[in-house]
Amino acid sequence: MTDQEVLAKKTAEAEEIVKRFLPKEEGHAKTLLSASNYSITVGGKRLRPIIMRETYELLGGNGPEIDYFMAAMEMIHSSSLVHDDLPCMDNDEWRRGKRTTWYVYGEAMATLAGDNLFVLPFETAAGAFSVTKDPARVGEAIRVLAHKTGQEGMIGGQSVDVELTDSETPLTLEQMEFIYHLKTGALLEGSMMIGAILAGADEETVRKTERIASCIGMAFQIRDDILDVISTTDKLGKPVLSDEKNHKTTYVSVYGLERASEMVEEYSEEGIRLLAEIGGQGSFLESLFRMMISREK
Ligand code: IPE
Ligand code: IPE
Ligand code: MG
Ligand code: MG
Ligand code: MG
Repeated sequence: MTDQEVLAKKTAEAEEIVKRFLPKEEGHAKTLLSASNYSITVGGKRLRPIIMRETYELLGGNGPEIDYFMAAMEMIHSSSLVHDDLPCMDNDEWRRGKRTTWYVYGEAMATLAGDNLFVLPFETAAGAFSVTKDPARVGEAIRVLAHKTGQEGMIGGQSVDVELTDSETPLTLEQMEFIYHLKTGALLEGSMMIGAILAGADEETVRKTERIASCIGMAFQIRDDILDVISTTDKLGKPVLSDEKNHKTTYVSVYGLERASEMVEEYSEEGIRLLAEIGGQGSFLESLFRMMISREK
């Protein structure tokens, strides 16, 4: 099988796992549940759950706990997209090849669906207590899930992104790095760290997974900025030129396409170098990180 074929298989597996944990669309709050499910089921690359499970298996994990956290992480990621697309944020109308949640369900319902998909994952992850032989690992994984989502994670990054957008002075490199590390890096860091924690890795290894994912996260967001300029809405499944519309300072607007592409490679190579230190040389995770450098969507 080619790497692409392996990825397609792993994507389908991750998708099946995530879907198992979605709510049934019934009862008085049915619309909320439909809106929540809509944002997840319309598509998405499922990279975070895939990376989580690959890290887990690389470090010797083989229990049922991981499924709960794969689903939880994809829910949190999807909720971040539902909120990111709202008119009060990036004001975008397409996501994952379909109309955005707010466009279909209205702003109020999309806000609530986003809220729901921030909370449901913690209930979902707590379900792992009922199947684990090592509750301390599950507890620590839940702590990391919250930490990488919250004020020192994705939400913190989004807050600075929103606050500094449209400000008179362009962002400094330090501000931009801060935003990227948090808004995009944090959930990737959490994904790898949770894989490592659940596999029973020692503290130093967990810290290394955080550093690896931090590099991959920077590369991922810079590639996202590049695609926002060079791709098409059809290919991406979300609007291009969204950053220009919102007057965002990005790595592309500051460094240009060519230098930004080099930076994607540099960050990825650093991540791959660190991955080798935890035994990931030649692993599927390494192939995946390489595929992500030149991803088209
Ligand atoms: C989009 O993430 C948001 C960013 C952090 C750049 P993905 O590119 O992983 O989006 P999906 O899950 O495939 O839709
Ligand atoms: C996304 O940044 C970061 C999130 C936490 C959602 P963008 O605003 O560039 O993501 P896209 O391009 O809309 O997916
Ligand atoms: Mg945004
Ligand atoms: Mg956006
Ligand atoms: Mg973008």
